[in-house]
Amino acid sequence: MMDHKPNTIAVAGHVCLDVIPQFDQNRALGDAPIFEPGSLLKVGPALQSTGGVVSNTGLALHKLGIPVTLMGKIGDDLFGHEIIKQFKDVAPHLADNMIVSKDQPTSYSVVIDPPGVDRMFLHCPGANDTFSPDDLDTDALKDIALFHFGYPPIMKTMYENHGNNLASLMQRVKQTNTITSLDMCSVDPESEAGKISWEALLANVLPHVDLFLPSYDEIAFMLGYEVPKNDKDICTKQLNEIASKLISLGSSVIILKLGKQGLYLRTTDNAQAIEKLNLDPSWVGREVYSPCHYVKPVGATGAGDCTIAGFLAAVTIGQDPQKAASTATAVGAFSVLSMDATGGIQHLDIVNERLGTEWPRHDLEMNFSNWHHTPEGELLGPNDITAKSLKQ
Ligand SMILES: Nc1ncnc2c1ncn2[C@@H]1O[C@H](COP(=O)(O)OP(=O)(O)OP(=O)(O)O)[C@@H](O)[C@H]1O
Ligand SMILES: [Mg+2]
Repeated sequence: MMDHKPNTIAVAGHVCLDVIPQFDQNRALGDAPIFEPGSLLKVGPALQSTGGVVSNTGLALHKLGIPVTLMGKIGDDLFGHEIIKQFKDVAPHLADNMIVSKDQPTSYSVVIDPPGVDRMFLHCPGANDTFSPDDLDTDALKDIALFHFGYPPIMKTMYENHGNNLASLMQRVKQTNTITSLDMCSVDPESEAGKISWEALLANVLPHVDLFLPSYDEIAFMLGYEVPKNDKDICTKQLNEIASKLISLGSSVIILKLGKQGLYLRTTDNAQAIEKLNLDPSWVGREVYSPCHYVKPVGATGAGDCTIAGFLAAVTIGQDPQKAASTATAVGAFSVLSMDATGGIQHLDIVNERLGTEWPRHDLEMNFSNWHHTPEGELLGPNDITAKSLKQ
């Protein structure tokens, strides 16, 4: 793909700092400290950790060994400086293209996580709510092969007005001959973002998005499907229906992340669209399901973002769709090996080494009766061009 450009990926969009006061974990459950007006609660030092797609997908790509640059928008304040410092500590160049607002605060969350009760969050959207196409330094895109953007549902300027800003942002990136990629995050139906027409936004934005990689729950909500209470109730016919709709709106490659059910990949039947992206013809007309690789999970935070990092890495190094789906779920599995978002991620060479060994998959929970099982563990659907030719 894009052989005249280096393999650098830009990750743009939501970024924030999580500030997590440490509670005394030895307190008995019944003594769980509750805030009361006028009271003072003594806590330990605060952990500070960067979050959002820029941090999760961006740092995961870096750990995989893919050149990456981060393009989140922060304020010129204490939390903003901390975010820059943390990125620079990982690698000095990572923060070179961060956007610093002179008048907006850095987005942060205070995570209140006392023992024995559910976590509570205080969240300030800050500069994320003002991300605009003009923030993008198009000069910085000249060496970028792929531009990934995340979390429009929690970025006001990106979801308002039917996503006009998001559409023109992606359009500008495409004009620099860069592949565009988009991820969502869940939408709170009670919030302002929950009340907009996501179908109208997608119709506006997807013509400028080459790879669209939401999770199933998010896209089901956006398109007005009933979101199943249980992952097991997702059916493959509906996955194809949703992905086909998203392709008809303008994207060429769709991934639907399915939590513990792994992921579903569907690509356009239009060979010219695939050629325009400089992708191998093996990307035309594909329907691939990749079940999760089996690991003993420690924490699912950031699993979706790391899965995407695995997929984007696979695309930029020229893997075919079946292998790319497998790399994506493999990196997703590495990510659930740690409590934090990217602690479990290892270099792509190690991921490949693991993939070369016997690595069991999760049991199949959906109905795959008319699917072709590959020796590698992926399944090819009835709409997959290669599976069709296998039947003849
Ligand atoms: N227990 C697990 N074992 C192995 N892989 C897992 C497990 N849980 C999730 N994954 C992998 O992580 C991927 C992403 O999970 P999910 O569908 O929840 O994404 P998401 O909704 O975007 O998540 P996030 O909340 O991280 O944004 C799945 O497609 C799967 O491949
Ligand atoms: Mg996600």
